[in-house]
Amino acid sequence: MNKQFFNFFLGALGTLLFISSCTTDPIIPAGGVPLDPPIQDPGEENLCEDGVISFQHEVLPLMVSSCAYSGCHDPATAAEGVVLDSYENVRKEVSPGDLNDSELYEYLFESGDERMPPPPAEPLTTAQKDVIKNWILQGAENTDCGLPCDSTQTSFAADIYPLIQNYCVGCHNLNRTDGGVRLDGYDEILPYVENGSLVGSISNDPYYPIMPPSGSSLSECRINQIKKWINEGALNN
Ligand code: HEC
Repeated sequence: MNKQFFNFFLGALGTLLFISSCTTDPIIPAGGVPLDPPIQDPGEENLCEDGVISFQHEVLPLMVSSCAYSGCHDPATAAEGVVLDSYENVRKEVSPGDLNDSELYEYLFESGDERMPPPPAEPLTTAQKDVIKNWILQGAENTDCGLPCDSTQTSFAADIYPLIQNYCVGCHNLNRTDGGVRLDGYDEILPYVENGSLVGSISNDPYYPIMPPSGSSLSECRINQIKKWINEGALNN
């Protein structure tokens, strides 16, 4: 290597180092977001039997995101004396096995301002109402069984969005933008994938507020599902 070329080489190397030291670290590291070991959900050892609704993993997350927030049915506000932040409190509003005697269920179908959650919040989806219905019909017990979760399944439409819908969208939608954040669709979610706060807020990173702020947190398997989906390019698939 002649001296001139060597100097050129050093210069180029220096420029490269200089440029790379000036650019901020990519939010998603080259190797992807590290997955939490173990990838198997501990809850999977205690899977719900076929069709059994898990209060802790299906009903409570819905209550927390759609009902138990400030100004409504959180302990501080307790609108109409109703608090929906725990099994004990939710249980007071239902009559096991009897939909007609379960106010919690009836109010999902009211019209106008009577409907829960009240407008402008979107009503619960039919699938979400069915979760509550079946839980009441099954005896309204404090079931804590795990839901099937396969962290290799990472379709946005089939796996990721339904998860976010149940755990997050009640507080993060067009009409209710807690923290200024909307998560009610692919385009709305993408900026929080890119700035790292989606993963940060669900994985106990002390830099971010913990999401969801109360109730059951996402299981490791579900967190890994989201991380894998991101590592695979966060596709709208
Ligand atoms: C009960 C309402 C509620 C639910 C449910 C909820 N959030 Fe939040 N979220 C908030 C509030 C309030 C803030 C603002 C908190 C703050 O800034 O300290 C926030 C802030 C955020 C932020 C911004 C974090 C930042 O960097 O400031 C993200 C991202 C987020 N939430 C994601 C989620 C995800 C993902 C879920 C579901 C797993 C979720 N949230 C569920 C109320 C909620």
